[in-house]
Amino acid sequence: MKPIQSMEDLNSRIKKILITKEEIDAAIQKAGKEIDKIYDGRPILLVSVLKGAFVFMADLCRAISVPCEIGFMCAKSYYEGTVSSGVVQITMDLDRDVSNYHLVIVEDIIDTGRTLRDISNLLKSRKPLSFHVVTLLDKPSRRIVDLTPDYSLFTIPDHFVIGYGLDCGEYYRNLPYIAEYGE
Ligand code: IMP
Ligand code: MG
Repeated sequence: MKPIQSMEDLNSRIKKILITKEEIDAAIQKAGKEIDKIYDGRPILLVSVLKGAFVFMADLCRAISVPCEIGFMCAKSYYEGTVSSGVVQITMDLDRDVSNYHLVIVEDIIDTGRTLRDISNLLKSRKPLSFHVVTLLDKPSRRIVDLTPDYSLFTIPDHFVIGYGLDCGEYYRNLPYIAEYGE
């Protein structure tokens, strides 16, 4: 990424709005109802891996009516080339034991699937009551790991996207829509 030189430069890299705020809002309401139906009054723990999913998490949790707690973690996965070393370093772990919870992982985007695979293996090893993955965006064309989310709000083609929590060089997370990034 070339360094951002000005406001004009920042804005000129927002190439095309792919998903509007209205489309995101409508899809989240639908996802919230689906989650309510699946868990049918059972308490859940929504877990998101920072930072990308923080906006989605904030809106999704407000579209859910079943008893719901939220948790965050930070993780780094180490790879040698394209091969996982199998090491996930947790830089900030969950603040509770998940074995008494129905876990719902809230992701921003699944690209190659490596991050989610490592996080999933780690959290599943802690034996939650159940385990589901909800992702805002899915880019299946880029997948390296054989992994399918339980619920995906939007499937997108192989573009680098920004906005609604997703960044490029830490910028653009505050955009209310999802857009294609280009230099
Ligand atoms: P994966 O391990 O390749 O699936 O990577 C997933 C992570 O890469 C996401 O949680 C994002 O943080 C980041 N990522 C992947 N694609 C994009 C994109 O198009 N825009 C912004 N971040 C992305
Ligand atoms: Mg992420």
